[in-house]
Amino acid sequence: MTFLSKTALLIALTATPLMTALPAANADPADTTISAQGDATKGQRLFNRCKACHNLTATARRRIGPNLDSLFGRQAGSRDGFKYSKALQEADFVWTEQNLNDWLAQPRTFLPGNKMSFAGLRKEQDRKDLMAYLREATVEAAE
Ligand code: HEC
Repeated sequence: MTFLSKTALLIALTATPLMTALPAANADPADTTISAQGDATKGQRLFNRCKACHNLTATARRRIGPNLDSLFGRQAGSRDGFKYSKALQEADFVWTEQNLNDWLAQPRTFLPGNKMSFAGLRKEQDRKDLMAYLREATVEAAE
């Protein structure tokens, strides 16, 4: 590796945290731009990384994290009976695909002080695939 490309790499690495997106309060939860580019079948497999901590239906037993049913359009940190971190309790945003994408890319920097012990999904395509699955799987079936 040349000196120049090493320098470029260093700059790219150190600059990344500064470019992290913060929760957007005004985004539209009906926007499906990200999930439209994903493969729900692959996303279902990726959900295995979340499964130990999250269920997807309202009636399923709660695990370490809150159930994720009806996620899109729901206020962050609003699940009754779940003891959220202060960071999520005080968060003032709604779950949109963009916010969820940014949360999953880097859970810690997106909302400092949250207690979700998950390193993040680094690959953009993985997040798109998971989003496609979650769009389907978090909708509660009408009875
Ligand atoms: C080791 C357990 C664990 C794993 C793995 C995990 N989570 Fe979480 N998650 C949590 C906890 C705990 C919280 C609550 C965090 C807080 O209160 O700060 C949470 C919160 C969330 C929230 C916010 C919910 C709300 O009601 O506002 C979303 C969305 C979420 N997780 C999605 C995911 C997805 C998708 C994955 C997999 C890619 C995942 N999590 C992996 C434990 C986990």
